[in-house]
Amino acid sequence: MTKMLVTGGAGFIGANFVHYTVNHKPDYEITVIDKLTYAGNQANLAGLPEDKVTFVQGDICDAELIDKLVSETDIVVHFAAESHNDNSLRNPWPFVETNIIGTYTILEAIRKHDKRLHHISTDEVFGDLELDDPNRFTETTSYEPSSPYSSTKAGSDHLVRAWVRSFGIKATISNCSNNYGPYQHIEKFIPRQITNILSDIKPKLYGTGEQVRDWIHVDDHNSAVHLILEQGKLGDTYIIGADNDHVNNKMVIELICELMGKGKDWYDHVNDRPGHDMRYAMDSTKLRTELGWEPQYTDTQTGMRDGLLQTIDWYKANEDWWKPQKDAIEAAYAKQGQ
Ligand code: NAD
Ligand code: TYD
Repeated sequence: MTKMLVTGGAGFIGANFVHYTVNHKPDYEITVIDKLTYAGNQANLAGLPEDKVTFVQGDICDAELIDKLVSETDIVVHFAAESHNDNSLRNPWPFVETNIIGTYTILEAIRKHDKRLHHISTDEVFGDLELDDPNRFTETTSYEPSSPYSSTKAGSDHLVRAWVRSFGIKATISNCSNNYGPYQHIEKFIPRQITNILSDIKPKLYGTGEQVRDWIHVDDHNSAVHLILEQGKLGDTYIIGADNDHVNNKMVIELICELMGKGKDWYDHVNDRPGHDMRYAMDSTKLRTELGWEPQYTDTQTGMRDGLLQTIDWYKANEDWWKPQKDAIEAAYAKQGQ
């Protein structure tokens, strides 16, 4: 048995990672540490076997707790973060604290106890591309983050790289594009629109909707993380993306409307996000050629139809999970004309 500490395991991607690991990788015993911020929900881990998954509520900035948990594990997969751009524009401090100081705290424990780390990061550290730019982000693209969220994630990546180079810690990094799937907080684009339609509210498109996010299903992200844990080269960075950089926000909203039985244009245009990144596009050649990774959600039309159908079904079946927060989230967006 390998002992794995998963930070942020009660959040969207972390919880899906824990489910994925229990279902596909029987040799892991998992401890989740999560602060249970507004974005974390212990219910995301309901039904998992108690002999496989232990939950600890705590803060990754708590050096004493992190030191103890890291000393007791073999590997750490670090998902915990403040993760929502719109929130980082309202109040940047929690982003600096968790994403930078929290990552520093984990790195110091990894260094002291000589454990393996995989650090989860985002494509947003690279900034954005022009809409007509055919280039994609690679492992060597320079960093040019736009928002408090992406700049603090960029800072955390730099810390990991520096700890690899200066102290020789055993770490890998992955930068992934926008995820969607079950358990995603309904403040985010795709679940917001699905739960809008389920609440008889029109979906809300920022600005023109020409922006491109290279969407990937969360299970495809997590299969890549496991491959990197098993075969990744220590010290290396891997780009994760599913080649959906031809799909813009307008197309996603129209597809959601269609899949949920609404007219294709049954949505509102709302205020744009300040500093809105235009286009993200990922070149995952290294992951595919060196480690043999392939995404599973790859239907031909948009690359998202099957994944969106599965996600819509999940939100339909789990109204108790999202309904209590819906009004407050929409009220916060409405204040910004969004
Ligand atoms: P999320 O906001 O859904 O979950 C984050 C989790 O971290 C929550 O459970 C929260 O309670 C926990 N957390 C926050 N601060 C903490 C702290 N100080 N101590 C302990 N736990 C804390 O985020 P997500 O979408 O699941 O993202 C997970 C990771 O993946 C993040 O590092 C994010 O940058 C990265 N990422 C996300 C996407 C995406 O599309 N969502 C894409 C690429 C990379
Ligand atoms: P989001 O899910 O917040 O992810 P990120 O900011 O990390 O890319 O937003 C995805 C895209 O969708 C982004 O271009 C902003 C846009 N968007 C909308 O058009 N409407 C919405 O209601 C939200 C929340 C986002």
